[in-house]
Amino acid sequence: MDPVSVRLVRASLLWLVTGFTLGALMLSDALVPGDWRLWFAPTHGHILFVGWFLPFAIGVAYWLLPRKRIPERPLGYNERWAMAAFALLNLGLGLRVLAEPQDRVGNGGDAVDITLAVSSVLQLGAIIIVASQIWPRIVPRRQSRTGGSAEAQ
Ligand code: HEM
Repeated sequence: MDPVSVRLVRASLLWLVTGFTLGALMLSDALVPGDWRLWFAPTHGHILFVGWFLPFAIGVAYWLLPRKRIPERPLGYNERWAMAAFALLNLGLGLRVLAEPQDRVGNGGDAVDITLAVSSVLQLGAIIIVASQIWPRIVPRRQSRTGGSAEAQ
């Protein structure tokens, strides 16, 4: 796997465990101390969609989609930008996980609002990088000379 795919998939598995743990705590809310549903209901959903599903799919996409290697880009894409997207996505989600429960219990304020805004910018930046890097790798099948079809490399 590509180094960025390893990072994305490993991080997604960590978010998966985190999201399921919070889900279990929310489901047992009546029995365990704390107000887990209030604190984490939307955050749990975002951990599992943005932390688990999305980076898992992106990680596999970076690894498996057709690529055109050139000497300046041996992986077929700019790896630094891909790593930046990985960092921005996880940092953005992490900030949301910290700030959102504060907002939900009424401890919001300027710091929480700014944190959530920064979180949204980081996540949006990550996804713009990902979309622009994956887009050129979506290539239609083309006809080969023998009449069959072949993927573009
Ligand atoms: C990939 C798997 C999962 C996804 C994508 C997911 C997603 C979501 C979403 C979007 C919500 C609604 C959040 C909101 O109300 O704003 C939610 C709520 C909830 N989830 Fe999950 N979830 C998953 C797995 C689990 C698991 C494994 C558990 C328990 C072990 C769990 C327990 C709960 C509970 C207790 C709620 C709150 C229900 C309520 O009070 O209305 N979830 N989940």
